Amino acid sequence: MDVDKIESALRADIAAAGDPEALDAVRVRYLGRKGRVTAMLRAISDAPAEDRPRLGAESNRIKILVEELLAARRAELVPQDENAFYAAPIDGTLPATDGSSGRRHVLVQTFNEMRGIFHGMGYRLASGPEVELEYYNFQSLNFPEEHPSRDLQDTFYLTDDILLRTHTSPVQVRYMEEHTPPLKIIAPGRVYRNEAIDQSHAAEFHQIEGLYVDTDVSMADLKGDIALFIQQLFGSKTQIRFKPHFFPFTEPSVDVDMTCFGCAGSGCSICGQTGWIEIMGAGMVHPNVFRAVGYDPDQYTGFAFGIGVDRVAMIRHGIDDIRLFLANDVRFLRQF
Ligand code: DAH
Repeated sequence: MDVDKIESALRADIAAAGDPEALDAVRVRYLGRKGRVTAMLRAISDAPAEDRPRLGAESNRIKILVEELLAARRAELVPQDENAFYAAPIDGTLPATDGSSGRRHVLVQTFNEMRGIFHGMGYRLASGPEVELEYYNFQSLNFPEEHPSRDLQDTFYLTDDILLRTHTSPVQVRYMEEHTPPLKIIAPGRVYRNEAIDQSHAAEFHQIEGLYVDTDVSMADLKGDIALFIQQLFGSKTQIRFKPHFFPFTEPSVDVDMTCFGCAGSGCSICGQTGWIEIMGAGMVHPNVFRAVGYDPDQYTGFAFGIGVDRVAMIRHGIDDIRLFLANDVRFLRQF
């Protein structure tokens, strides 16, 4: 058997193979069931015993050589093959794969919209801690010692004088301690209440606090800013009205109603057929709050307001259960 002949034929065949298919045909020609190397190996058993070791060694050398040469040639050919793949025209008629992507949480979307409106009205952003001192959450805001919201039933206390803030109003005090008027801020954030949880009460929810302090700020300024804000958020035909209320840190205090987003005032299920929706609390900053931060109440006046972000999102999107916001169910969140 002419081993040298097979080897030179093999080298020529492999060099001539111009693509992976041609190379595969070479592989079959040598290593396939009827291939030349396979035939060599079979022939060993028919050979005289004294020739077998030499034939075995030669056949094996050729077999390994075939595999090595094939692998080397394949490595040369594959890059060309990839180039051909990337150069192939793209079939624009193929169906698209589902490019699902993340999105902002509906509360963040709602907050961003509200913040954008306030920003346009000259309010700056301020913030304060969620783990708060009793002093900032209650005492400095003129809450009487025996006020029911100070109760363990309503407030999560961490120690006797550290708690989870129950509202964003403490940011007012923290900000005024550090700045002198005029000042105009909103302070957004999460607040905590020890509530019995149901579809309209959650233990964690979100507020935006507003505060404007200067000389000669009046209730008319309050009403003007709130009306402007509400009309930008809910539509220019929206009306507001003030109802007398009580908050320890404002005097006078009001609850703000707006005409219903769902029915524009004629009565529907969103507003419980009244045509009005309670949207926020507000009032003129109480002189005792100014005293707590070292402002002279005879020199400065101001207004404050607090609005629930979750509530605004519920009204705008017709969401009927506040617990959905923090349930992390993507089927819910994907809708917005
Ligand atoms: N802090 C109040 C609450 O959590 C909301 C509020 C009412 C904030 C009147 C204010 C305000 O700044 O003036 O219910």
